[in-house]
Amino acid sequence: MPEQKQIIIYYFSGTGNAQNVANWISEIAKQKGNEVQVTDISKNKVGIKPDTDTMIGFVSPTHGFNYPPVMFKYILRFPKGNGQKVFLANTRAGMKLGKLFVPGLSGMALYFAAIALRLKGYRIIALKPIDLPSNWISIHPGLKDKVVDSIYKKRKTQTEKFARKILSGKKDFKALREIIQDLIITPIAILYYIIGRFFFAKSFIASNKCNNCGLCIKECPVKAIKFVNDRPYWTHKCESCMHCMNACPQRAIETAHGFVTAVIIIVNMLILAQLYKYSVINIYFEQPGLFAGKLSSIIFEGFITIGILFFSYRINHFLLRFSFYEKLVVYSSFTKYKFWRRYKTGQLQETTKVSQKKA
Ligand SMILES: Cc1cc2nc3c(=O)[nH]c(=O)nc-3n(C[C@H](O)[C@H](O)[C@H](O)COP(=O)(O)O)c2cc1C
Ligand code: SF4
Ligand code: SF4
Repeated sequence: MPEQKQIIIYYFSGTGNAQNVANWISEIAKQKGNEVQVTDISKNKVGIKPDTDTMIGFVSPTHGFNYPPVMFKYILRFPKGNGQKVFLANTRAGMKLGKLFVPGLSGMALYFAAIALRLKGYRIIALKPIDLPSNWISIHPGLKDKVVDSIYKKRKTQTEKFARKILSGKKDFKALREIIQDLIITPIAILYYIIGRFFFAKSFIASNKCNNCGLCIKECPVKAIKFVNDRPYWTHKCESCMHCMNACPQRAIETAHGFVTAVIIIVNMLILAQLYKYSVINIYFEQPGLFAGKLSSIIFEGFITIGILFFSYRINHFLLRFSFYEKLVVYSSFTKYKFWRRYKTGQLQETTKVSQKKA
């Protein structure tokens, strides 16, 4: 007889890693005789109040050393519990250097969620980071097939072992061994939450290869893309989950590195430099103490940069209709070039049959 009657696993996933983890755990739970439900939170907006003998799981990618806002908000809105068991898992940016498997960084992802659920009356039984291949292809090229396959094979076995452990009534808090490094990166996690994700949302563009098929708009889990003048336009709702960029059949979505760099240079050389020169704000930032000084100036500069980026993104979108400008933006993006692969693998359920679709 299983320890619990029912397991409900809620997941959010951009490129399929977290979805695969949810399914792997679900398979083991079924083998052990549990009734299992796996729910994509982007399709089912509200969680169900669980029975007392139900175990709940949340699985999500890590974004900027945190759970993405869509998952965290879901947890905050989740019905109150009365002692039901909860496990939390975060998929992270796994890499491989030679034979060495390199883990990602969780930051606050599991802790904030665990605190929120504990306060709601749940009993946390496990915190589990799982290092699947990094999908953050705005900042690095997609990993090679061979590397992806070997990371997947290793992590699937580990996840199944973890599932058997918690389903047999044991706890798993090995993640706490990383608490010191997680706490050290807390300020970055908070800054990413406030500023960083808006920045990345405004780095996506659709090139002239776009044939207006509408797939990116249809499949975006948070409905963050709309057509503006017959070209996809990314709104601030974007979670940078990387789904659209990896799924576009025309490989038309790029991270506009050149455009973003130009905006940063202009903001720093023209706007911020002038603001500091003629304004009293620098007197405030020169005050002693961390918050009054360095940190608040970083936040201030971040807000100014994001503000200008939002404004220039509209202009950029308008100018993309001119062929010369479009080429300038597209060719100054690393993602345009073949060596900068796309990440598709996580979306496949069969890890042995993975294949990276060549552009
Ligand atoms: C915007 C963004 C931010 C990320 N931040 C982190 C991070 O802070 N730490 C980490 O280990 N991985 C990070 N990653 C990598 C993903 O969490 C990782 O590849 C995850 O397995 C993707 O899961 P998914 O396929 O379910 O979306 C980030 C990825 C993206 C796109
Ligand atoms: S999926 Fe690609 S081709 Fe289709 S509308 Fe979006 S950007 Fe254009
Ligand atoms: S716009 Fe693209 S990257 Fe942003 S949330 Fe939607 S699918 Fe993900």
